[in-house]
Amino acid sequence: MTPPDHVRIVEVGPRDGLQNEAAEFTTAIRTELVRRLLDCGFGNIEAGSFVSPKWVPKMADTAEVMAAFGPAERERLSVLVPNVRGMEGAVAAKAREVAIFGAASEAFSQKNINCSIQESLDRFRPVCDMARERDIRIRGYISCVLGCPYQGHVEPGTVADIAATLFDMGCYEVSLGDTIGVGTPLKAREMIEAVAAVSPMEHLAVHFHDTYGQALANIYAALESGIRAIDSSVAGLGGCPYAPGAAGNVATEDVIYMLDGMGIDHGIDFERLIDTARFILDSLGKSPVSRVSAAKLGRCAA
Ligand code: HMG
Ligand code: MG
Repeated sequence: MTPPDHVRIVEVGPRDGLQNEAAEFTTAIRTELVRRLLDCGFGNIEAGSFVSPKWVPKMADTAEVMAAFGPAERERLSVLVPNVRGMEGAVAAKAREVAIFGAASEAFSQKNINCSIQESLDRFRPVCDMARERDIRIRGYISCVLGCPYQGHVEPGTVADIAATLFDMGCYEVSLGDTIGVGTPLKAREMIEAVAAVSPMEHLAVHFHDTYGQALANIYAALESGIRAIDSSVAGLGGCPYAPGAAGNVATEDVIYMLDGMGIDHGIDFERLIDTARFILDSLGKSPVSRVSAAKLGRCAA
């Protein structure tokens, strides 16, 4: 492949990384993580979510995290919202970007947000209206694009249809989520090409969890297909509370190491990123799952 000049990284560690974390951590630690990620140079950081605290208790303090940042910093932060109630929280927190999140699997949609795919799209419409009225950017997610923990196979055509609907609602980008990390490179490419047949490739992103160790290979295949935006999580933190067995997101430092080796610009300070990985690992009392962090920090990968 001819490598692209630039790839944009969306850092999801403070949200996807910490939403399902077993270790206890304080609001101050999550806030400090966001601050350090801003210092690394990320232009897009998911700071948290306005979801039910009964469903995802670890994100209950998202308003406090957002309140720690000024207008210029908030331009680089986003929050997940599942419904109008969540959007009201995002507006009160002066969020400049929200992410709505649907799924390509009926069973996962029910487990994750307690409604069908169609109901979720209906819930997102007023959320998008509120965002547009306030000039708040909207990002879209589709979960289970390469397989579902409950129903198994997912048709690429289903993913393509939902992506087209999310773009119609006003999403500037749609992130394709391999929620349980079952994808492999050729299947990832086939799915991306099916979506790009009806939606603009330059507005698609990929979001790989690394359950089966395929995430970097899948990202390479996605880059070959023309993808230029990648979601990842510092230190490979993460997992979805409603996706049994889902491991962390691909580690940001592993992605950055690969991009550096390919001569692709990303705008992230690698040494600061490794320091940030060290900070959050020490705060949580964890060993790195990222091979790059393990090598750089002189610790064994967990
Ligand atoms: P529900 O129970 O169907 O909703 O949940 P409801 O409208 O009947 O409300 C029930 C209760 O929740 C009420 O409180 C509401 O006020 C409250 P009660 O009267 O019982 O005290 N409530 C809220 N509270 C705070 N914020 C809100 C909110 N909405 C209702 N926004 C709901 C529906 C969507 C709220 C629920 O299912 C939920 O919060 N789910 C959490 C989903 C989640 O955060 N999942 C993880 C993120 S997605 C992900 O990780 C995948 C991704 O990374 C991509 C990938 O990897 O594939 C993005
Ligand atoms: Mg995820």
